[in-house]
Amino acid sequence: MRYSTKLVLGLLFAFALAASSAFASGGLTVDMDNGENIYNNGKEDTGVPACQGCHMPDGMGSDDLGTPRLAGQIFQFIVKQMEDYALDKREDTTMYIMNSNAKGLTSQERLDVAAYISQWQHDRETVDASVSDLNAIKANGVEVGETHLGKAIVNHGISEKGVAACRSCHDYNGRGVEPLFPMIGQQKYTYLVAQMKQWREGTRSNDPQAIMRNVAKNMSDEDINNVAAYLSTKEASPYSLGNSRLPHRFTPFETHH
Ligand code: HEC
Ligand code: HEC
Repeated sequence: MRYSTKLVLGLLFAFALAASSAFASGGLTVDMDNGENIYNNGKEDTGVPACQGCHMPDGMGSDDLGTPRLAGQIFQFIVKQMEDYALDKREDTTMYIMNSNAKGLTSQERLDVAAYISQWQHDRETVDASVSDLNAIKANGVEVGETHLGKAIVNHGISEKGVAACRSCHDYNGRGVEPLFPMIGQQKYTYLVAQMKQWREGTRSNDPQAIMRNVAKNMSDEDINNVAAYLSTKEASPYSLGNSRLPHRFTPFETHH
């Protein structure tokens, strides 16, 4: 069944406007030092372990652990995921830990740590050694897709299966669009594959208007592996088109230390 992309995008746009005005009008203030402290040390009294233990000291996530990159992710998106975990709208079915981690922080602390980590790695133009090592993953016996096949899906979708082009929402090579469309480019391979399967099976269902469940539902395992191989390793700037500039990220909060 085809769904109306125009209708879905219209609804999402309304949702995005509501979301950004909530962020803008709230006079949001964050404490970066507190965010840094939580990221590095966790919160002892509520038993929240240090984020860096699983998301890594550089915030780039880990293919071995199956954890996502958080560094440089869109602030509003991180906040939404933390709220969704706290309210059990999303379940961590990888380690069964994020729901209790989110509940162990106050909503202000979730803002603090989200703001802190979203400011990292703003040099998203380069592809450095911190991205997934597809050869190492393959050597561990995990199936890895073909980047050139994934590229076609990212840019054009799969029309005969009704799979929409990732780029139409997530932008060039999945670099993300504030506030609603997360950065999925240079996200960890293992995590991307796991999330696509979760959207497909419906075990992750915190996407507005089932937008990602509709994208993933007709994708085969190979389609998913291919798209993840491409997205996890490609640059965020269309150098080849003569444009090396990244869209400006605006910061919908004020900081105090
Ligand atoms: C024990 C390991 C562990 C610790 C500690 C941990 N995380 Fe996670 N985190 C995970 C795993 C695993 C996932 C993927 C869960 C899933 O499949 O939904 C995840 C997912 C997330 C996501 C969703 C990201 C996305 O792209 O959707 C956010 C945000 C997040 N963690 C933030 C944090 C913060 C902030 C802390 C520290 C307070 C933290 N995590 C501590 C393991 C951990
Ligand atoms: C019509 C818009 C749209 C299209 C097309 C789309 N996405 Fe998404 N995607 C979204 C939205 C919105 C979210 C955020 C859902 C949420 O709030 O949790 C998302 C989230 C995701 C996530 C979760 C990211 C994370 O860090 O947890 C992945 C992975 C993803 N998309 C991959 C893809 C891939 C791969 C494609 C192409 C095959 C694609 N998307 C096409 C709108 C779209």
